[in-house]
Formats: sequence, C-alpha cells, structure tokens
Amino acid sequence: MISIKSRTEIDQMRKAGEIVAVALEKMREAIKPGVTTLELDRIAEEYITKCGAIPSFKGYKGLPGAIDYPASICASVNNEVVHGIPGLKVLKDGDIISIDIGVCLNGYHADAARTFPVGNVSSEAQRLIDVTRQSFYEGIKHAVIGNRIIDISSAIQDYVEKNGFSVVRDYVGHGIGTKMHEPPQIPNYRTREKGPRLQSGMTLAVEPMVNQGTYRIVLLDNYWTVVTADGKLSAHYENTIAITDDGPVILTKLL
Ligand code: MF3
Ligand code: CO
Repeated sequence: MISIKSRTEIDQMRKAGEIVAVALEKMREAIKPGVTTLELDRIAEEYITKCGAIPSFKGYKGLPGAIDYPASICASVNNEVVHGIPGLKVLKDGDIISIDIGVCLNGYHADAARTFPVGNVSSEAQRLIDVTRQSFYEGIKHAVIGNRIIDISSAIQDYVEKNGFSVVRDYVGHGIGTKMHEPPQIPNYRTREKGPRLQSGMTLAVEPMVNQGTYRIVLLDNYWTVVTADGKLSAHYENTIAITDDGPVILTKLL
C-alpha cells in the first residue's frame, strides 16, 4: 500500500528535507584532500542532532549477518556505489565521493545524496557526476499524476545510456514518509512491471546510481558496502520529491 500524504505531512517532510539539504552543503564545504569520511560523518551528525532531528541511517538493520548501520551518512568513494561506511579513509585529490544522508524530524523522513569531486577530478569523472545529476532531472520530468513509475525509470535509463554510462540494477529508489523505505520501488531502468500510477500526495526518493563501466556490482564482506564489479567509478544523486497537482516538488532542497 502506497501512503498518500496530506499537505501538512508534505510540509513536515520538507522541513526534514531542508535539514538534509543543509547537511549536504556542509559536506560540500568540508570535502577536500586530507579529510576522512569519519570527520564528514561527525559534521553531519552534529548538525542533524542540533536541529532536533534523528539521522535515519544510524542503527538501520541491514542484511542478516550485517551489523546495524553504524553511522549517520553513507560515504562511498570512487568505485564504491552506495553504503560506504565512514571511517579512517583519507580523501585525496582526484577522488569522487557520494554522500547519502537521511533524517527523521517529527516522525517524517527525508533522504538525499550527491556525488562531489575532491579537489581536481578528471573530466570523465566530472562528466559521470553531471550525467548522474541530470538523469535525476530527466526522470522527474515524468513524475506527474497519471504517469507510472516506469516512465521515470525509463527516462533515467535512456539518458544515462545515451551518455555511455550504465545504471545499477540491484538497488532502487523507494517511497518514503513515516518510514525511510516504503513502497513503491523505483528502479532506474526498465522492468517488466510498469509500476503503479503516480497520484497526488505520493512522496518518493528517486536515486539514480550510475556506473562508468558495467552496471554489475559486488557486495563487500561487511554486507553493506557496494562496489562496482569492474573497479570503475560510480556516482549517486538522490532527492525526496512529492507528487502534486502542480507537478513534482523537490523536498530535499534549501528553503
Ligand atoms: N539512501 C539510501 C537508501 O535509500 C540509504 C540507506 S543507508 C542505510 O536506501 F544505512 F540506512 F541503510
Ligand atoms: Co534512498
């Protein structure tokens, strides 16, 4: 069952979304060669809790055998696709880093991710970042009442593949609201299922994960971190959006 949110609920999610957006801007400012991913986690967590919100990821239950997620952000460097666990890894010039942040404010979640360059990156790495971001915007052009989930999915896939990159299959976007993960699933590629029709009041986390080479991924033995199968780069771009009578509204942005 896909939950439909009232105006008031969407306003609550927008407040959570603004905290995510500010935290991501703090990440952008802090990311430079020499910084560890754990330092980034501390900065984000301190800001989120100062706002009276809860980091949605911390303590999240993963696969059987995995520890509960131990941090407030996911920090995935270079060939890491998603769910990189913050630690003592030091960022260096030329890296790219995907930061994913979720917060819960007054019972409502918002979730967003960006990939940032560290110092000076190759033009191909920058192009991967730019295509991934634009694929989100291409996707949400179709996030209008009466369309189906697959209309978003196919627009993302077509844009990414036209630009010579690939979309990850094993992880998908999702509905979001009083839980971080709600139905429906939002693949970034065409599936057999067309998915449900979009209705006013649906809130969705649309999150293309785009690889430079193969779309195939490998799960590391910590049961969290996902890496590209060929070791090439990966980028991520995510926003929480609301479907409204006036079209899609991005909730994870600065008010
Ligand atoms: N944005 C990711 C997602 O939607 C982050 C989840 S990380 C986790 O699935 F730690 F919470 F699992
Ligand atoms: Co998400």
